[in-house]
Amino acid sequence: MRKYWDSPVKAAGQGARATQGSSAVPTQVRIGGAEIAPATVLAPMAGVTDTVFRRFIRNLGGCGLIMTEFTSADGVLRAKDKKAQRYLHFYEDEHPISAQLFGSDPQVMAEASRMVEGFGFDLVDLNLGCPAKKVVKCNGGSGLLRDLPAIQRIFEAVRAAVKIPFTVKFRAGWDEQEIVCVELAKIAEDCGLCAVALHARTREQGYSGQARWDWIAAVKQAVKIPVIGNGDIRSPEDACAMVSQTGCDAVMIGRTAPSNPWIFRQIAEYAVTGRYDEPAEEDRYQMIRTYFQMLIEEEMLGAEGKMKQFASWFTHGVPGGAGLRKAIYESKGAPEILSRVEEFFEARLCAAGGLALQTDDVIPLG
Ligand SMILES: Cc1cc2nc3c(=O)[nH]c(=O)nc-3n(C[C@H](O)[C@H](O)[C@H](O)COP(=O)(O)O)c2cc1C
Repeated sequence: MRKYWDSPVKAAGQGARATQGSSAVPTQVRIGGAEIAPATVLAPMAGVTDTVFRRFIRNLGGCGLIMTEFTSADGVLRAKDKKAQRYLHFYEDEHPISAQLFGSDPQVMAEASRMVEGFGFDLVDLNLGCPAKKVVKCNGGSGLLRDLPAIQRIFEAVRAAVKIPFTVKFRAGWDEQEIVCVELAKIAEDCGLCAVALHARTREQGYSGQARWDWIAAVKQAVKIPVIGNGDIRSPEDACAMVSQTGCDAVMIGRTAPSNPWIFRQIAEYAVTGRYDEPAEEDRYQMIRTYFQMLIEEEMLGAEGKMKQFASWFTHGVPGGAGLRKAIYESKGAPEILSRVEEFFEARLCAAGGLALQTDDVIPLG
């Protein structure tokens, strides 16, 4: 099933703004004491950026910072909350890694941040962007955007509680009438936060329309701490255009990462050579297989659901992908899904080596 956030919108004018850019994405950015190199960040995505996906992206190269899915600060404090523990589980090869928390009580946020620091995270981030009703109802995520004094109290409490760099990720405001991003970024800087990340949409927009990069530029002009730009980057050209047009110090990429996990490496390559490699079908095959095997090995809860979801992202643009997706959705159990993927690509690669397939051929998958 397609969800509304399946891939960044192809909004009119997007291509135009991509061609205007020329600045390369910086090779590094310093966030407090943490050196992030290159200056690219994998956006936190609930249900997506678990430890397997994060390591998978890290291993492909080019991503400077990875972040956990957003995690309830209350959940972190309830030691027995398995869900929070799962979200905050990470491996050594994930450094540098940031833990993203949400919550509205300053003391709970402070205590959870202290725990996160104790777990060994390199940074802690406050989520002020989540538009989900469940989160907003408890005044978490973007719900707080309408109460800057409450945000300031959280900033102060968390800043006093931890030594690791503290950052915030937020949307521009609740709606077009209440744009608070510049004011909020200034409060963050005054409270000693080390960087701000702006998803350049309002809460009301959800994921619709086009991200307003001019809001990122306004924030950049208002503060001295690093500004991380986020929203609608689909290619290395887009990443450069965002840096050119906003002056941001780093770029953050969300929805493009699952369909093109090479985007970070491509950005790094593009910065040096002005060009980048597109993955071949064999690369795509190895990528899917590696990711699925990692999911199976991790015995991750919900691995089967994740494989099905990722299959649709990963096979984006692959000839015959619709047939594979159908076979995957009808499969039962993670090993069977992996077999379907192997059969599909082995058949294609075999055929390409001998009798070339037509691009829209669908391989019968039993
Ligand atoms: C499936 C999904 C889950 C998300 N979960 C989070 C989250 O846990 N925390 C957060 O700050 N943003 C979350 N976001 C927002 C992204 O981090 C990012 O700000 C947004 O997708 C815009 O960037 P993009 O255009 O590169 O995708 C999520 C987005 C998606 C699509």
